[in-house]
Amino acid sequence: MAILVTGGTGYIGSHTVVELLTHDFDVVIVDNYSNSNPEVLNRILKITGKRPRFYQIDIRDEEKMRDLFIKEKITDIIHFAGLKSVAESVAKPDLYFSNNVGGSKVLLRLMDEFGIKNIVFSSSATVYGVPDHVPLKETDKVGGCTNPYGQNKLDIEYLLKDYASAHSNANIAILRYFNPIGAHPSGLIGEDPNGIPNNLMPYVTQVAVGKRPFLNVYGDDYQTVDGTGVRDYIHVVDLARGHLYALRKLAEKPGLVIYNLGTGRGTSVLELVHAFEQANGLKIPYQVAPRRPGDVDENYADCIKAYEEMGFKTEFDVVDACRDSWNWQKNNPNGYK
Ligand code: NAD
Ligand code: UFG
Repeated sequence: MAILVTGGTGYIGSHTVVELLTHDFDVVIVDNYSNSNPEVLNRILKITGKRPRFYQIDIRDEEKMRDLFIKEKITDIIHFAGLKSVAESVAKPDLYFSNNVGGSKVLLRLMDEFGIKNIVFSSSATVYGVPDHVPLKETDKVGGCTNPYGQNKLDIEYLLKDYASAHSNANIAILRYFNPIGAHPSGLIGEDPNGIPNNLMPYVTQVAVGKRPFLNVYGDDYQTVDGTGVRDYIHVVDLARGHLYALRKLAEKPGLVIYNLGTGRGTSVLELVHAFEQANGLKIPYQVAPRRPGDVDENYADCIKAYEEMGFKTEFDVVDACRDSWNWQKNNPNGYK
């Protein structure tokens, strides 16, 4: 019985692999390293004392993926592999469709062929589009995505729903992540973006380490507590733990289930900056810049369903995440390079 983790050397995948290995799951990773580094495997070994089996394959390569499924006895899949830059998806919509939706189709075909029943999928709060209220519940309307990345997530959710309709014995957990931040407390694995970070926390840590002079705060005239955008920041170790809860849920044969994974609490950009300063005794210079196109005022999760149906709740708060993000960045100023 092995768990196949696609995208397992990426940010969320690597933290999930650590949790799986710590709980004695047999793990097989597939990743094409398009947004990750082989060094991650050494770091996973350092943390857990175990080296998962690894295949460098693009999941769209059906022949190579079939060979993997012939070799390994896979019972469950956790599907992280995908491209995730909103801006890049606007510039390269075909690449995003082919990689994200095409890659997921290959996996579903092979699940069918090899009789694999269980899959956990990394979806995103982005499927809720522009919310007309918060907190967001799993039953709230989806759609109206403003970029190809978000549309890909929704397309894959629909593929999974169709697959579930056609396969009565399939068990599928769609996990809608809110904003993952933080790093493993060891400081050995963390988020390692290529080039200029798009997301808030890696930008803040690069300012802290001296790589960037100041943070741009994109807009201070939103309808929020202090005018800056509010998001639901979940510690990546909590998010990783959420996948083990989802696997346990799938073992109960629930069919298709959907859960938000967040904390249920909103934090503004300036609140996050101040939490980072307080947690680490550092000053983060910032300037207010124009709003970023497509950003919404507030976005945070209603997390009751994940708690009631899986018993999942977060253990870390934003201050813990700020401490762990900085610990990772200061020990690895150039990421894995
Ligand atoms: P990441 O880029 O760090 O990890 C994704 C991994 O998938 C990378 O290691 C990359 O090399 C690999 N990959 C991409 N395309 C592949 C392909 N065709 N074949 C094989 N490997 C491939 O991203 P992450 O932050 O760890 O995100 C993991 C998943 O969670 C993604 O699907 C992402 O869309 C989703 N998600 C992320 C966030 C976030 O803010 N980080 C929020 C919501 C959802
Ligand atoms: N922000 C800044 N300065 C920065 C970066 C971000 O002020 O340099 C602000 C944004 O305007 C926003 C907040 O910080 O108010 C969070 O921005 P992120 O880019 O970190 O996160 P988003 O909520 O925009 O996007 C994330 C994921 C997307 C996903 C989306 C919805 O990165 O992949 O959540 O789930 F689609």
